Amino acid sequence: MLRAIPSALAFYLAGVLVAQADGDAALGKKVFYRCMACHEAATDRDKVGPHLLGVVGRTAGSAENFNYSQAMKDAGAAGLVWDETNLAAYLSAPKLKIPGNRMAFPGLTNDDDIANVIAYLKADPKP
Ligand code: HEC
Repeated sequence: MLRAIPSALAFYLAGVLVAQADGDAALGKKVFYRCMACHEAATDRDKVGPHLLGVVGRTAGSAENFNYSQAMKDAGAAGLVWDETNLAAYLSAPKLKIPGNRMAFPGLTNDDDIANVIAYLKADPKP
């Protein structure tokens, strides 16, 4: 009887961790309002920033027609791919993750916002 408690607890904690790792795309769409002045995610149109259509899994600095900073091009050439871990690090502190990059955005401070906006970008947003 008592032995069942630790494993129930482990299951509960595992569930909580999984729930936190998976963002909510619908909430992420609202977070993306903060990016929209500079980014389009539903089409491949560049604005002040490169388009983010299909950015999850894309090599940094590789949107075809966008004029990236040297820092962003170098990061891509060095093998940086925008998987969820790298996106989360960049979105929380753009200047720390890629010193010298040109994104004039201070970063998102809330971990849920970061997970949710990544889920939105991953969900292949429609206009
Ligand atoms: C003020 C304009 C601006 C805002 C706001 C902004 N960005 Fe950016 N972003 C840029 C620019 C410019 C670049 C290209 C940086 C470079 O070349 O150094 C960029 C680059 C990126 C990249 C790398 C793309 C690639 O092709 O390598 C990602 C990912 C990104 N931004 C996501 C976001 C997200 C998500 C938000 C909102 C939470 C956001 N940005 C807010 C201007 C902005």
